Amino acid sequence: MQATNVMDPSEFGLIGESSPMREVYRLTAKAAVSNASVLLLGETGTGKELIAGALHHLSPRNTGPFVRVNCGALPETLLDSELFGHVKGSFTDAMRDRTGRFEAATGGTIFLDEINSTSTTLQVKLLRVLQEREFERVGDSSSIEVDVRVIAASNCDLTKEIAEGRFREDLFWRLNVLPIQLPPLRRRGHDIELLVRHFLQMYSQSNDRVVSDVEPAALRKMLEYTWPGNVRELQNYVERAVVLADSNMLSMDLLPQCITGDAQAAQAAVFRPTDDQSLIREFVFSGISKAPRDATDLHEKIVNSVEKELLGQVLAATNGIQTKAAKRLGMNRNTLYKKLKEYGLEKSDDEQT
Ligand SMILES: Nc1ncnc2c1ncn2[C@@H]1O[C@H](COP(=O)(O)OP(=O)(O)OP(=O)(O)O)[C@@H](O)[C@H]1O
Ligand SMILES: [Mg+2]
Repeated sequence: MQATNVMDPSEFGLIGESSPMREVYRLTAKAAVSNASVLLLGETGTGKELIAGALHHLSPRNTGPFVRVNCGALPETLLDSELFGHVKGSFTDAMRDRTGRFEAATGGTIFLDEINSTSTTLQVKLLRVLQEREFERVGDSSSIEVDVRVIAASNCDLTKEIAEGRFREDLFWRLNVLPIQLPPLRRRGHDIELLVRHFLQMYSQSNDRVVSDVEPAALRKMLEYTWPGNVRELQNYVERAVVLADSNMLSMDLLPQCITGDAQAAQAAVFRPTDDQSLIREFVFSGISKAPRDATDLHEKIVNSVEKELLGQVLAATNGIQTKAAKRLGMNRNTLYKKLKEYGLEKSDDEQT
């Protein structure tokens, strides 16, 4: 057991030394030694899964199993039996007894990824496990005790899900004992360069190539970009660049247009001159004054406004086909759908093709 309050991020494949990431490492090391539930929050591709792994490996349970369940990948009835198991005959396809993932995680950690995708009925069952530390297999009446540490992750704003009746507030409070918020990549500054260099090395090795450097202009563009798909998106672009490179340099022409697009033209298209520009001015000047009080708020507003425009344009370019748009954005489809809803950009089903 490692009762430590520091962690070496590289041990878990985590690159980044910006202050928001250092705060994440600090919280992770602290949370790891406790048995309390951890809720990992953050946009898609910010590294929640890596942190979940680190939490387990740094915990006193590290000799037990680490079981990940992607709650977004299974329909409700399957997820129910996947998590809690079932007894033979409890439904048509239940040919024999089956152990669920909670039992499989005994002595270790269960990672409930995309917890926001669970139905409210299943949320009631999860709440009971967290509160009473017991559950029943599907079709069985005898209770099974659980000795499992729970880590959950969500890439959407759970308070909003609660407000809209899709997530139970009582479960939220049970999970939210130790929240860890992963910062979006656009807030990590110099980490972007560290990540680019890390992935250059990684993909050079796996492709048996040497692309060891990055053109300063290309790097500048990457530092200016908003990264809706965060580290996952950056990783994809670097991999593609390594495969396509003709020299040892990651140059501008190897980056997608969404990054290299003429910044002035992009700005003119994206920012409506009055509202957004004045927000930007406010942000810039509040940073110069001693106390940039609402800088985070303003940053969020500006980024949201750019993101809304970007999603709208990518969607238009992909004829409204969300799977294509999600792929181009390096974003998972659920996340895109939620963002479109948030920004009022979603169409009704019959409008979609
Ligand atoms: N700080 C980091 N350093 C190096 N690689 C990272 C970092 N953060 C994320 N990655 C890589 O980016 C990819 C996405 O990370 P991960 O799957 O942990 O994101 P996530 O937050 O779980 O995303 P989602 O919400 O879409 O499930 C993975 O390939 C992961 O290895
Ligand atoms: Mg994940």
